[in-house]
Amino acid sequence: MLRKRLTVALVGGVMLASALAGCGSKDSGGDKGGSGSGSDKIVMGFSQVGAESGWRTANTKSIQESAKEAGIELKFNDAQGKQENQISAIRSFITQKVDVIAFSPVVTSGWDAVLKEAKDAGIPVILTDRAVDSTDTSLYQSFIGSDFVEEGKKAGQWLVDQYKGKTGTVNIVELQGTTGSAPALDRQKGFGDVIKSDPNLKVVKSQTGDFKRADGKTVMETFLQSTPKIDVLYAHNDDMGLGAIEAIEAAGKKPGKDIKIITVDAVKDGMTALADGKINYIVECSPLLGPQLMELAKAVKAGKPVEKRVLTKEGTFTQEQAKTELPNRKY
Ligand code: AHR
Repeated sequence: MLRKRLTVALVGGVMLASALAGCGSKDSGGDKGGSGSGSDKIVMGFSQVGAESGWRTANTKSIQESAKEAGIELKFNDAQGKQENQISAIRSFITQKVDVIAFSPVVTSGWDAVLKEAKDAGIPVILTDRAVDSTDTSLYQSFIGSDFVEEGKKAGQWLVDQYKGKTGTVNIVELQGTTGSAPALDRQKGFGDVIKSDPNLKVVKSQTGDFKRADGKTVMETFLQSTPKIDVLYAHNDDMGLGAIEAIEAAGKKPGKDIKIITVDAVKDGMTALADGKINYIVECSPLLGPQLMELAKAVKAGKPVEKRVLTKEGTFTQEQAKTELPNRKY
């Protein structure tokens, strides 16, 4: 069954004995409130990427609602897509002496210095949704989120299966997510690794649309102008795919028929387009990370061992499956 599940798989099999080890001098026991509040309530500083997509909006809602349900005080920062804003927010959380810092890194690189500052202050960090490329993994306690390489592979495998036994070049255009972000890098890699098994499948254009609908539309317009024959669009998220659909229709072509479309996320708007036949296949990426994040925060604060990697389980959707799933889709 391909429907979304909220359960998480504990990956790697190795329970890391307290991730708090080496986490500086701050007492992380469960009986002291952070943030100078003087209460027992856990205070979490969370820096979000921004509001670039439907996925992100659902992710923010999940985190805010779950914090409330878990009785965790959330200091929420919207970084508006800028790494420097996230770094400032993390520094501010350190100054405020929050109990736990969580964030979804805009890009993978450039975090070591600020993560070291958090570690030196004894404040545990949990990565959500996106990875960092720090080689010193003691700089964070746990990373919860999807396997983006696997998502790219699923997208590529569907395409390989579609063209199995067929002859002739298949021209693919790719709308990448935010440059330097983990999902953009990994979804490109996973897809590329799988489609290379069929030499007919060629990525002829690849450009960032920053995970945004408007950018997906403008980049697709330029693809359509410069590339006479486009057979397939692979968009790293639904929103860019939906923007591209507008450009394809404006060019007098039928999305899903003249140009096959594969996207990632499976938010409601994407699933609607899939059920309507305008998208051909969606690889799911669940934004509902809030409940697991709050559980991790409580465990970390209590000094309990936590898994270094918590992996979200996800499926895929065909057009027929989208018709069945759509009435249940909450985001
Ligand atoms: O990091 C997850 C990605 O970020 C989602 O796939 C995309 O929609 C979002 O903006």
